[in-house]
This record gives sequence, structure tokens and C-alpha cells, in this order.
Amino acid sequence: MSIIRSVFRGSGAYLPEKIVTNADLARIVDTTDEWIVERSGIKERRIAADGELTSDMGLAAAKAALEDAQMDAQDVDLIVLATATPDQTFPATAVTVQAELGITHGAAFDLQAVCSGFVYGLSVADNFLKAGQHKRALVIGSETFSRILDWEDRTTCVLFGDGAGAVVLEAQEQPGGPGDRGIFTTHLRSDGRYRDKLYVDGGPSSTMTTGHLKMEGREVFRHAVTNIASIMRVALDANGLSPEDIDWFVPHQANKRILDGTAKKLGTTDEKIVITLDRHGNTSAASIPLALDTARKDGRIKDGDLVLMEAMGGGFTWGAVLARW
Ligand code: ACO
Repeated sequence: MSIIRSVFRGSGAYLPEKIVTNADLARIVDTTDEWIVERSGIKERRIAADGELTSDMGLAAAKAALEDAQMDAQDVDLIVLATATPDQTFPATAVTVQAELGITHGAAFDLQAVCSGFVYGLSVADNFLKAGQHKRALVIGSETFSRILDWEDRTTCVLFGDGAGAVVLEAQEQPGGPGDRGIFTTHLRSDGRYRDKLYVDGGPSSTMTTGHLKMEGREVFRHAVTNIASIMRVALDANGLSPEDIDWFVPHQANKRILDGTAKKLGTTDEKIVITLDRHGNTSAASIPLALDTARKDGRIKDGDLVLMEAMGGGFTWGAVLARW
């Protein structure tokens, strides 16, 4: 019996030009390259230029993904843009991208799940496509975290970066077996009891300001390893797979030590994990599509490969997506 699956047709990415190294940061706050590399694995990150917006980067990534898919923007009837750093409080950054792409049909909206945004976005788009409500979706993760960082707080400002990534999903009939292409299952979780472990101390309804990122690093770290390993297990079990069956793990790029801790819990090896955080830092909702695009363009992820994506972020929110590219 054939079924509808959301098949990945293309990917794209955009990184701002400006590179900020750990040595650059050591001139602003009391830190060292050694400390940052040892605690996080991050060596450098990109920072958006003055006036360069989340929508500009999301648009660039979307155009690259459409080109990769050899698809016209008019073929897209759904845009889900995951971001915690929208251009404005409203309208959604997604409608700016929609307008810039010249699309006047279908729907475009933002999705807010912080670092889990892209995984949440894939899940939402997948369900719309499977339900037959839309046919082709752009799922974009775009962030300008540099604008919500406290550049005097060395415990947070060294960890994040700016950037955008996007994929094009298309509803396609597939045979309904393990060799299908596209998304197999998505798994989303949240637990709002932990919303004060990683948050921004501002917002339109509370302070009428944008605010700055605040984090209890150790608490986030502890929950991240447990929650990520657990949701990856859920995704594998739901598909009757074990870690050995997966060709590529594409995790949210928060911290190398979180990735190592999770890999250890799951019993998998480093060679199968796509890592870009050394060059990008934590780009929140953009990190998975940036890593996906990197590994596709350098030839690691090939058509037919089984890919397991996972993320955890503020909220806490977390989730996983298992798909065959
Ligand atoms: N440079 C130098 N020293 C620093 C820096 C810095 N940039 N930041 C903190 N320190 C100091 C602290 O002040 C502290 O000094 P003290 O012992 O004199 O008080 C010391 O380093 C140790 O600080 P801890 O916070 O205990 O360091 P820890 O080993 O926990 O590492 C880190 C901190 C990297 C933030 C870690 O907790 C972590 O990775 N947490 C996960 C956070 C994360 O990845 N968040 C991303 C968003 S959530 C997500 O995407 C999953």
C-alpha cells in the first residue's frame, strides 16, 4: 500500500561574512581560546552585518535550497520559518521571506521552539504534507542570536552564532516500506517547568524590550544529554532500527561535549556525526539545516542515506526526526 511521505528535494544555507574567532572574543570578555574549545568545541562563529536581518539570511538559504531542488518558488505552498530572533514582534519573518520570493499563495508562518525549532518545523510541515493540505514546503531555520546576547557575559556570548539553513520538502507517494525516501517519523517533546533555565529576559508583553539570553549552563547540559539520548532512542525504536542502521546523525550543534555525552549513551561513533559547531557555534534553529547542507554539499549525505536529526533548546523543548534522504 503506497503512502504519502515528505521527501527532501533540496537544501541550502547562508552564513554571514563576518567571522569572529575565540581570540577576537578574548579581546571583549575575560576568556581564552583554550577555555571555549575545551568546554564547547567552538572555534569561531559568524555574526550578521549591521542591518542584515533574520529574513535576509532565511531568504538566501531558501533560494539556495530551491536552486538545489531545481524548483521554482511558485511551486512552494507552505513556508515554516523557525526562529527565536524574528525581524519584528509581528508580522512573522516567514511572510517577509514569502514576499521576497514573490509567493502570494499558500501559507507562511514562524515557529518558536528555540534550538529545537528546525525539528519542530520539519514535524509541522511533514504533518501538513501527509494530510494533503499542502504539497511543497520550505522549512527554514534562521537566527541572529548576536542581537540577543549580552556581549559582556562570557558565560553565554562565546557559545552562539548567526546563520540560516533551509530544506524543500515535497509530498510524494512512496511504496510504504523501509526503503522509502522522506520523513519516517517525528517526535516532539517539551517541559515548561524548565523554562527559566534558558530564556531571554525580555518580550513585548512582559518588559516591552527585546532582552538578553540567560542560561544556567550546567542544568542545560545535564538535561540535554538525557533528553536527547532518550528521544533518539524513541525515534530508533519507532522504526525498529538501532544506531548502527543510521548513516548520519545530524544533531543540533550546541556543544561538542553534549554530542559526546549523547553518543556515549547511545553507543555510536564520532565518524557518523556531522559536526559544524567548531565553525558556526550554536546557531539555534539554523544549526541542523546548516549541518545538513554542509554534509550534503561535501558528499557525505547521499540520496538514500538514513539520517537521524535531534535537538534540544529553551523551554525545554526537544525532538528528533528520522528520515531517508
Ligand atoms: N571563559 C572563561 N571562563 C569562563 C567562561 C568563559 N567564556 N564562562 C564561564 N567561565 C568560568 C565560570 O565563571 C566558572 O568560573 P569559577 O569556577 O571561578 O566560578 C568556570 O568557568 C566554570 O563554569 P561552569 O559554568 O561551571 O562551566 P561548565 O563546565 O559548566 O561549562 C558551559 C559551561 C560550556 C556553558 C556548559 O555548562 C555547557 O555546555 N552547557 C550547555 C549549554 C549549551 O550548550 N547551551 C546552548 C543552548 S541549549 C542547547 O542548544 C542545547
